[in-house]
Amino acid sequence: MPQKGLFISFEGGEGAGKSTQIRILAETLRSRGLEVVVTREPGGSPGAEAIRHVLLSGAAEAFGVRMEAMLFAAARNDHVEEVIRPALESGAVVLCDRFLDSSRVYQGTTGNLETDFIETLQRIAVDGTMPDLTLIFDIPAVDGLARARKRADDGATPDRFEKEELETHEKRREAYLDIALNEPRRCRIVDAKQQQERVTEDVLSMVEPLLERFDHLSDVAQ
Ligand code: TYD
Repeated sequence: MPQKGLFISFEGGEGAGKSTQIRILAETLRSRGLEVVVTREPGGSPGAEAIRHVLLSGAAEAFGVRMEAMLFAAARNDHVEEVIRPALESGAVVLCDRFLDSSRVYQGTTGNLETDFIETLQRIAVDGTMPDLTLIFDIPAVDGLARARKRADDGATPDRFEKEELETHEKRREAYLDIALNEPRRCRIVDAKQQQERVTEDVLSMVEPLLERFDHLSDVAQ
């Protein structure tokens, strides 16, 4: 069945400001009459949320990065089957905070897992449902971590993956930039160090061309 909706994933390191931008974009698209589903990984469906807890608490860490990668993939597959694909089939815009590129970067690159292993897992996890657009929020690791730590000072506890070294975060940044280079049709890099308003403008300008598919809905065309 041809996909009627639009699938956008948001990627990047810690403190890049993804969640704020997802919220703003969702409001903008809804105000234009579009049906918008905001979701996140790991999680987004009841089955995947159960696995999220196991992963982010660090409960699976002792069993190794392969085990973690498989759990992320299991959660992703449930999320795709239960939430993302049905929403796309019904014609919604799906905004997903992290998707398969997070596994490529966090488990693949900085978890030192073989590319073949990670790619095979992702093929099974997404089962043909790939984002139409992936926005990679790029920020130097020091700046991103400073923002994430500020959040922690405000009361949030850092999760299993936020606690790692600066060097690891910088490797992740490079890995995301490599993905963008290898898949230029799907990926766009957002300069997340800019002021929030500028980031919002950039995000909208990257999404706008893909909204043409909704032109049949009266108030989207503008
Ligand atoms: P969360 O607090 O939900 O998100 P964020 O960092 O985007 O604000 O934490 C999710 C953590 O899980 C984050 O540190 C990245 C990590 N992660 C992976 O390691 N692999 C994955 O496949 C996904 C989806 C997330």
